[in-house]
This record gives sequence, C-alpha cells and structure tokens, in this order.
Amino acid sequence: MIISVANQKGGVAKSTTAINLAAGLSLEGYKVLLIDTDPQANTTRVFIHSDVELEADKSLYNAIIKFSPLSPIIQETKTDNLHVVPSHIRLSSVDLELAQAFDNRSERLKKALSKVRDRYDYVIIDNPPSLGLLTINSFVASEKLIIPVSTGFFALTGLVQLQETIDMVKQTQLNPELEIMGVLCTFSDRTNVSRDVEDQLREYFGDQVFTTTIPKNVSLEEAHSNYTHIFDYAPNSSGAKAYKAFIKEVLTK
Ligand SMILES: Nc1ncnc2c1ncn2[C@@H]1O[C@H](COP(=O)(O)OP(=O)(O)OP(=O)(O)O)[C@@H](O)[C@H]1O
Ligand SMILES: [Mg+2]
Repeated sequence: MIISVANQKGGVAKSTTAINLAAGLSLEGYKVLLIDTDPQANTTRVFIHSDVELEADKSLYNAIIKFSPLSPIIQETKTDNLHVVPSHIRLSSVDLELAQAFDNRSERLKKALSKVRDRYDYVIIDNPPSLGLLTINSFVASEKLIIPVSTGFFALTGLVQLQETIDMVKQTQLNPELEIMGVLCTFSDRTNVSRDVEDQLREYFGDQVFTTTIPKNVSLEEAHSNYTHIFDYAPNSSGAKAYKAFIKEVLTK
C-alpha cells in the first residue's frame, strides 16, 4: 500500500508522522520504503547523519528530473525492513525545471515507484508544506492519504484548499482512486484551543478522523536530533504509545 502524509501547512508533524509510521510498521515486520519528497530533507537527515553530504545524484531529484531508477538510490537504515529514498535541496527547483515539460510531469514518482513497489508492503511518502508538483506527484502515486493537523492553532483554513487539490487529482483522472485514509490530530494537549480544534475536525471530517491523537511530547523531537525514531529513542514515552496506537488503526484500515 502506498500512503502519502500531506498537508500544505508547515510544522503540523508530517515528517514526524511519516518517520514513526514507517518505523513502526517495519518493527511490526512489514517491509517499508520511506520516501522523502521535501527539499528541506528533514526526514532524510534523521537517517543520514549530518556529517554525510547529501548528493543530488543519489536522491529523488534524479528520479524526478532524469527518470533515473529508484533502486540504486534506496538506502538501508539501522532499522531492519526500513529503507529510505533521500531527498535533496535541488528538489526545490522541480516546479521550475518541469514548468515546460509536458511528458507526464505529474506521474514521474508513480513511474519510478512502479519498478520497486512489489518489494515493499508499505511505501510511506513524506511531503513538503506546499501543493506544488512534488506533492501532486505523491498524490498521483499514492493510494491513501494521511493528513496530520496540528490542534495547537486554528487549523481548518488550509484544509478546504487541500480537499480541492485532492478532488482535482481525482477528477482529472490523474488518480481517480486516491482516498483520504484519515486525519490525524497532532500536538494535542489539554488546552481549550486543542480541544476546540479537535472537535471541529471531528465535526467536519466525521469518522475520517483517527481515534488516536498524538500528544505534545518532547521525546518525539529529541528522537530526530538523535538520528532515530521514537520506538528506538523512547519506546515508553507518550509519543511512542500514541504512534503505536495510531499504527494499529492504520493496519485496520
Ligand atoms: N507531538 C509532538 N510533540 C512535540 N514536538 C513535536 C511533535 N510532533 C512534531 N514535533 C516537532 O515539531 C516540529 C515540526 O514537526 P515536523 O517536522 O514533523 O512537521 P512537518 O509538518 O513535517 O513540518 P514541515 O511542514 O516543515 O515539513 C519538529 O521539530 C518536530 O520534532
Ligand atoms: Mg516535514
């Protein structure tokens, strides 16, 4: 199954969710490929130490721009069954570089994935905070979407635009099958704002909202600066428990 984690709003825990979903699934014994399409390469950096220079030639950039195969750029991680496709800052110019390209510029990730997807039970795609060509490529390549929404601030404004983009991808036949798997409340705490936002999300999206909510938990942030995921860094933390429960829900969908 190919799942995109997306929301054009920045800092809503897309990367944190993609990383820990991918890691958690691999710990359950599934073969998982985590693809970083964000030019910021935050997710890539959790698995490739900052002492190591990232190379555009060994990143998703080559697959999107030069139609290079994914196989040679897939990297193993220290977690069994978890492989990563690195991003690169040069991906930030993809919208410009492909502005004149008319040959399937929205289907490049899908094409690249078609040759490796059989090797994996799950492909998890982390996305940039935008609705540009990289995110469109992900939506075209994906079967399901997970939309993290931060309950830390008013959140609904951007969701209409996100829904319109999803509808556009479906209606233009780029990917008629694309479905929202669920909306995930992140950064939840006991404040009124957090509770209000969660209530509004449940009202708007109904049972598309995951029952599990992800609490604010500093261990989630610390795990990344320690180049690992939450199940390795702090398996008993509230963040690890929440992501574990979330993964259980994903497995039933
Ligand atoms: N539940 C949480 N509790 C505390 N900190 C968190 C939590 N989830 C994520 N963070 C931290 O918040 C910051 C933003 O999270 P993250 O990078 O996952 O968001 P993002 O949506 O991927 O951001 P961007 O839009 O920039 O890609 C990071 O520093 C991350 O470690
Ligand atoms: Mg991110």
